[in-house]
Amino acid sequence: MTAIPRFAATADGAPTPAMLETWDRDGVLVIENAVPAAACDALIERSRAIVEAWDPAEGAAVFSTTAPRHAADRWFRESGDKVRVFLKAGAVDAGGRPSSPRLDAVNKLGHAMHDLDPVFERVSRRPQLAALARGLGLADPLLVQSMVIWKPPAVGGEVTCHQDATFLVTEPESAVGFWLALEDADAGNGCLFAIPGGHRGPLRQLFHEVDGALVTETLDPTPFDVAAAVPLPAPKGTLVVLHGRLPHGSAPNTSNRSRMAYTLHAVDGAARWHPGNWLRRPPGMPFRGFGPGG
Ligand code: FE2
Repeated sequence: MTAIPRFAATADGAPTPAMLETWDRDGVLVIENAVPAAACDALIERSRAIVEAWDPAEGAAVFSTTAPRHAADRWFRESGDKVRVFLKAGAVDAGGRPSSPRLDAVNKLGHAMHDLDPVFERVSRRPQLAALARGLGLADPLLVQSMVIWKPPAVGGEVTCHQDATFLVTEPESAVGFWLALEDADAGNGCLFAIPGGHRGPLRQLFHEVDGALVTETLDPTPFDVAAAVPLPAPKGTLVVLHGRLPHGSAPNTSNRSRMAYTLHAVDGAARWHPGNWLRRPPGMPFRGFGPGG
């Protein structure tokens, strides 16, 4: 099993030569203490408040990567410029409302907290994160999507092995994922796993709009080498950076410990944003970079 190096955060966030070497070889960086615990707590608190304030009558959607029924759901399709609650499969009644305590029924929040919520914006636009994104080669980093992945105890769902570039299509490919552990994540409560070096393999699928419908198109049927996957345990405050083509996922949380994470995805503004992307922004709300207002 390939050991994934772990790094301490640099003061200004910029990657060191050793980090860049790992990034090129493995397609993943694990950076401990990248975000202070207090900032993680603030995101958890804010996430819970969003869910508590949410009125299920506004609409709800079950989000599951194992049964992608969400594809046709407007709740999902129209969430690129909003803050919306997505419920997990099995935690809703026939009317689509939470059937258990709502904080346990959530799969995720998405997809524009980084632009619409001041608490999320502050963490998302940390100067250290900007320096990291630029150092990894994004000439004009644009923050396109944010999610809080809930993973409650005992019922937190799995995320099947995938490549983020499947869902965030640019030409050339440029997606980079930033995954922040808001709570300790380990093999017991469904931490990330990834296939080191798998970013040098082909992009397997494209999830995009064709003739008005969201479809998953297979580009290359080569299966992921899941036997080569390694767990990526991440204590609270650890940032895991994922190359857009790196196969990764996470197991279900069957423990009695919560495992919340915040993910942020960036693409390069120098690349062409494919018009068939599921993620849409209205003309008045374009993707923004790390700086305030631009
Ligand atoms: Fe992902």
